[in-house]
Parts: sequence; C-alpha cells; structure tokens
Amino acid sequence: MRYTTIILGAGAAGMMCAAHAGPGTLVVDHARAPGEKIRISGGGRCNFTNMGATPENFLSANPHFCKSALARYTQWDFLDLVGRYGIAWHEKTLGQLFCDGRATQIVQMLRDEMARAGAELWLATSVAGVRHADGLFHVTLDRDGQRQDVSAPNLVLATGGKSIPKMGATGLAYDIAQQFGLAMTETRPALVPFTFPNDRFADLSGVALPVRLSNARASFDEAMLFTHRGLSGPSVLQLSSYWREGEEIVADLDPSGALLQLLRDTRQSEGRRALRTVLARALPARLVEALPTPVPLDARLADQSDATLETLVDGLRSWHLTPSGSEGYRTAEVTLGGIDTDGLSSKTMESKALPGLFAIGEAVDVTGWLGGYNFQWAWSSGHAAGTAI
Ligand code: FDA
Repeated sequence: MRYTTIILGAGAAGMMCAAHAGPGTLVVDHARAPGEKIRISGGGRCNFTNMGATPENFLSANPHFCKSALARYTQWDFLDLVGRYGIAWHEKTLGQLFCDGRATQIVQMLRDEMARAGAELWLATSVAGVRHADGLFHVTLDRDGQRQDVSAPNLVLATGGKSIPKMGATGLAYDIAQQFGLAMTETRPALVPFTFPNDRFADLSGVALPVRLSNARASFDEAMLFTHRGLSGPSVLQLSSYWREGEEIVADLDPSGALLQLLRDTRQSEGRRALRTVLARALPARLVEALPTPVPLDARLADQSDATLETLVDGLRSWHLTPSGSEGYRTAEVTLGGIDTDGLSSKTMESKALPGLFAIGEAVDVTGWLGGYNFQWAWSSGHAAGTAI
C-alpha cells in the first residue's frame, strides 16, 4: 500500500506530527494503545507543557538546534489546542501545566486531531524492516501476524528513547537512523533517581525537604526525597541529567539561608534546648538524627560558640554525596542523547543527507528538564516535521 507519510511511533511526537502531516499518513505503533506515556505521565494528569519553556531548559550537543521548532510551535500554541478541546488545566508549580482531569484527555485530543487530518493508525503492529529505493521508504510490517508492505516518500522516526522498556520503549528509531547514515550521540538515562551503596538512606526513606542540589554543571532549587535505594524528588531528577558516573553532588539543606540566624536567635532565647530540638524546627526530625554534625546532637545550644554554629551550618549547606549510580532506564523518565542533530534540519527535522527521512521527539538528541518540557519538545518537533511534509 502506498502512503504519503509513514510515521513510526504513536506517542506524543508521532501523533502531533500526524495531526499536521495531511492526508495519506499512516501511523504505526507496536503498542495496543497510542500515547501510553502521556496516559501515565504527571501521575495520570499529564504535565503537558511549561509556561516558562525556553531553549535554555533543554540539553543537547547543539543547544541551538531546538530553538527554531520551539519558537514556531510554543507552549501557548499547545495551550490554545487544549483550550479548543475544553480540557481544564492548572499550574501546579514553576510554570508546570497539568490537566485538572485525566491525562487520557490529551491522548483523546491527539487521536481526534489525527482523525481530523485523515491519518490512519495501526496499533499492535511491529516493524520487521525498512529499506529505501526509488525515492520511497518501503516498510515491512507485522500486523496481527500478517506481513504488510507499505511505502511512502516520507518516513518519520518517532519511536522515542529507551526509557522504561516495560512500557514498550525500544531503540528502533536509533537503528533506522543509523541504517540511513544518521549519527548518534551517547545515550544515557536521565530524569532518574540516584542509588547509593548499601542502601545508605534506607532508614530515611520517605523523608523529603527543599534543597539546592548542585554539581559543577547545574544547580536546582527543588525538593529532594530519600528513598530506600537512594535519592529522588525533583531536584535529584533534574540534576541526574547533568551527572556522570563517579561524580559528586552537593546538597544545600538550608537553601533559604535562614538556619544560622535561627540557631543564634534560639541560643539567646532558649539556650537550654538541645541542638537536635532546634535543628528539627528547620529540618525533618528523622534527617537531623542522620546528619554529619561537628558536635553531638544532645549538646546544649547555649554551649555552642559562633564558630561551632557556623561550622555546623556550613556542613549542612554543603553536604557532599557520591551516588553509586542511577536507577537506569527501568525508571528514567527520558533518554539523554540520541539521533545527532547535526544530520537534521532544525526547521523541518528532516535528514540533510536523505530527503524524506525525519526524526522527532525523544529519539532526537534534545532532552528537556523535568516539568513539561519533554512533551513541549515532542509537540514542537512533531509540528515542525508535520508542517514541513
Ligand atoms: P513516546 O515514548 O511518547 O512514543 C514512542 C512510541 O513509539 C510509543 O507509543 C511506543 O509504543 C512506540 N514504539 C517504540 N518502539 C517501537 C517499535 N519498535 N515499533 C513500533 N512502535 C514502537 N514529560 C513531560 O513533559 N511531562 C510529564 O509529565 C512527563 N511524565 C513522564 C512520566 C513517565 C513515567 C515517563 C516515562 C516519561 C514522562 N515524560 C514526561 C517524558 C515524556 O513521556 C516523553 O519525553 C515523551 O513521551 C516523548 O515523546 P515521543 O513521542 O518522542 O516518544
């Protein structure tokens, strides 16, 4: 069967692309339902974009690559679409927009948009092979145990990254990209919890607090959560995208900088209090017991000199930790790296070397921060390719 465009992957980027690619589009996915990651995202409410999205919120070997697509299909464009479908939403924090209802509203909206554009959707269909001949991409599919050959002058790689293989993530886009001469940048799990040796923080599991978490490359002021196996929470997921194996991270447990003054004031007014009691006014009590402190926690506050309090607070503001690793693709929200943007047009997402071949979404070496940025990249890059076709 002959189509104008074949899109591999009915995720966020593939569906957005199909909504704009015009008639004669076939979207293929091996899953039984489209947009499965949208469905489970944001705790079932989908953090579908971020009001503050700018190119600075994305990592890529070429930080300029994402600019054009993000500028031509912005968060406001997606919000317009959401508004046209009457989907209620709210800002949770830091510009992050979520559905008031279910994330499945976003999936249904994209299905409706694809149908309106006349795209066909084949689910439970796997890709057995792709070749290019006579200006056409010939794709062999396995649909319900039947072989089907389809062809089109345009092929869009939208099968995402490697994160969460249990949900059907595969490296198909990477394999086909490489088959047609596109280079890859190194891929790594990102937006992923850190692990520590010997379940170091198991006793603190469930404790959360606001921190500033930093390394030499980046710094994030958000919550940190202790887990049985290590550290998680928004600040940790964010920093994981900037972290390499073996490196140290630094947690500032007093990001507002108010602790030293609190200790000094309390020394004046309630000097007989134990250090642990006063620290527990600013930090979770369970965490206080586990902190590295220069004096015992049952020491009286009145007995501590300014210098001791400063040493104590300095330690808490610069807690050096070395993760042993990350939870990996099993739980990573995204894959860092991917199809090298050098081989693609930033305006259309089309291969510079092989016209008609496009790559969009997470498969491409553009990775957003936590907070709706990755979906925005899927919408923007999907729109760029769809309108170019
Ligand atoms: P996506 O992964 O969405 O789609 C790829 C499609 O290709 C899938 O439907 C898959 O079945 C199909 N496919 C894969 N291999 C195939 C093969 N071999 N043959 C056929 N089909 C194949 N981002 C955000 O901005 N806000 C959020 O709230 C969240 N929350 C979130 C939670 C969780 C648990 C995860 C894992 C991820 C997020 N993300 C997120 C990230 C976001 O989901 C992700 O960046 C986008 O879904 C990427 O869109 P794509 O369309 O590129 O890939």
